[in-house]
Amino acid sequence: MPKTLVAYFSKSGHTKAIAETIARETSSTLHEITTAKQYPSTYIMTILESRKEFKHNEKPELTDAKIEDFSSYERIIIGFPVWFFTCPMAVVSWIEQYDFSGKEIYPFCTSGGSSCAKATEKIRELCPGANVHEGIKANKIDSETINEWLKK
Ligand SMILES: Cc1cc2nc3c(=O)[nH]c(=O)nc-3n(C[C@H](O)[C@H](O)[C@H](O)COP(=O)(O)O)c2cc1C
Repeated sequence: MPKTLVAYFSKSGHTKAIAETIARETSSTLHEITTAKQYPSTYIMTILESRKEFKHNEKPELTDAKIEDFSSYERIIIGFPVWFFTCPMAVVSWIEQYDFSGKEIYPFCTSGGSSCAKATEKIRELCPGANVHEGIKANKIDSETINEWLKK
């Protein structure tokens, strides 16, 4: 089993729950991506705040600790909620701290219906030296789905 990191951003807990399941099923290290700013508690205000970030390419400051042994991980699973059809800018902030060359990346998202396709493309742009596998929408997940996904 390749040494695996499951890193996730979650505003309201859905992605967090899926990331915990994936980390448990794959015996991986779990890492939460957190921001210095608190996103608003209401959906509509979060829409307005995140729209501003996308519009101005604002990458929020992170408060989670830098992963010192990042280079030792062969496989990185990155989870996030879909925001405006792509990954939140906090995920961009997180990715830009590391060198993903030679790594196997598996994106997953939770969403209200949108797929992970646009976010997968974005992650491919951000990690040119990595093998970025097709992301999956994982509003629910079980061990069989996880095993099949990570074989691809
Ligand atoms: C700012 C914002 C933008 C969103 N944009 C989308 C979207 O484009 N497509 C979609 O299907 N769901 C969208 N959603 C819904 C979330 O992706 C969905 O509720 C997700 O499961 C929340 O995950 P979390 O609990 O880990 O934060 C959006 C939610 C927020 C707050």
